[in-house]
Amino acid sequence: MLTTLALSQESQVYTALESREAYSQPISPLSEDELRDFMQGRTLVRQSWIIGPALDSEIQGLGPLYNRNSCIACHAKNGRGFAPTNEHESMRAMLVRLSIPGKTLSGAPLPHPFYGDQLQEYGAPSVVAEGRASLSYSEHTVSLANGQNVSLRKPQLRFTELAYGPLPKNIQTSLRIAPAIYGMGLLQAIEEKTILTLAAQTKPGKIKGRPNWVWDEEAKKISLGRFGWKANVPSLRQQTASALSGDMGLSSSVFPHGNCAPKQRDCQQAAQTVAPEINASQLQQMTMYQLALAVPKQRQAGDAMVMRGKQVFERAMCAACHQPVLQTGDFPGLSALSHQQIAPYTDLLLHDMGPELADGRPDFQASGREWRTPPLWGIGLAQKVDEQVGFLHDGRARSLLEAILWHGGEAEASKEQVRTMPDEDRQALLRFLESL
Ligand code: HEC
Ligand code: HEC
Repeated sequence: MLTTLALSQESQVYTALESREAYSQPISPLSEDELRDFMQGRTLVRQSWIIGPALDSEIQGLGPLYNRNSCIACHAKNGRGFAPTNEHESMRAMLVRLSIPGKTLSGAPLPHPFYGDQLQEYGAPSVVAEGRASLSYSEHTVSLANGQNVSLRKPQLRFTELAYGPLPKNIQTSLRIAPAIYGMGLLQAIEEKTILTLAAQTKPGKIKGRPNWVWDEEAKKISLGRFGWKANVPSLRQQTASALSGDMGLSSSVFPHGNCAPKQRDCQQAAQTVAPEINASQLQQMTMYQLALAVPKQRQAGDAMVMRGKQVFERAMCAACHQPVLQTGDFPGLSALSHQQIAPYTDLLLHDMGPELADGRPDFQASGREWRTPPLWGIGLAQKVDEQVGFLHDGRARSLLEAILWHGGEAEASKEQVRTMPDEDRQALLRFLESL
């Protein structure tokens, strides 16, 4: 397996760069047109949008309600976000999803009539921001077999300055940090049947894994979910359009109506525009940019410690969810993505991760205890790309070891193995993860 992996990394979808720009490289080969779209998409993903009406109509349209004014405000250097360290800090690279019990016709979580499905902490001058969310932590320690204690912090969410009335007792919330956005094209290019075959496979111990089926806004049908912490979005294009709308208040052909909740009158009035704020080619370019972002190559793959860590990874059943080898299918939209052997360390399936990680907020087929296995490729460079990073959906884990020690549910046995294994094995496992 190690040799085939090494071979696949010679292909053009990986980058050998290890610097702060490691998550910002294009795959190759790209045609002239693809490269041009990539460059223009890069500008748009880095663009700070402004509230209209403004002189520069190209970059206006932010709001009326929004979380941040650019994609990279949350996905710094295309990397992951982080959680505030205490209740006085604001959320800079994460957001809070909201809903009330029930489902919409498409199976999506039911938005709150005033606050919608996401708390927007900022508002354009004529529309009041929805409120603020802050986090405080309760800590407990877990003992490893060698007697070493590891402190784990669990976030507690509190809302303040709620501008549209109190939230009901049965409000459902989900804290989510921004995941990294490189390698998305390769995940999109995995054939649906590959993912469904993984779901059908018998796995060790209590491990299962099932697909999320979600609403495809453009195809107007139910499709396999791939993106988001609960695989709640079917395509990179829809993910981009929904980030534009939900996080920044920018409309596009996919979400033409802005992001105002059903009863937010001021917002609806302010959001009225003639044409989508993001035009067709801008959406296409932003999608192309992300489709074509390369993944960092594994480093020190031949190092003895790293190789031992890889064995530990398999022995501890991590690989049953964090799939080390997958193939992409035919991908006419960007042929460089077609028929690649890749090492994403995800199965794109949902897993019950136990009560400690549960958010209690179902998202399409995903229950309140289920999360999509996040890809681990490139994770070892996270702190090099940006010093401030968090792990797990709400960024509670400050290190890879903490992230592992929070695993429960289907991954309980894996976690226990890591907790009780000899020190050298655990060190090797962490070295392996850092090499990814
Ligand atoms: C307020 C912070 C924030 C902003 C601004 C933001 N994102 Fe995100 N992004 C997130 C969060 C949080 C998630 C996870 C959402 C979920 O689980 O539902 C996410 C998910 C994604 C994903 C899916 C990643 C994966 O692994 O599945 C992509 C791609 C993405 N964002 C791209 C963008 C683009 C492009 C923009 C700008 C148009 C953008 N984001 C703006 C916070 C942000
Ligand atoms: C049953 C499936 C499953 C198994 C087994 C499993 N994981 Fe995970 N892993 C997940 C899921 C799902 C998450 C996301 C949970 C969350 O965000 O709340 C995750 C998150 C992580 C993260 C954090 C990733 C990020 O982007 O923040 C790391 C690191 C990780 N796992 C490593 C491991 C290691 C090492 C093992 C083996 C000891 C392992 N996992 C076993 C499913 C699994």
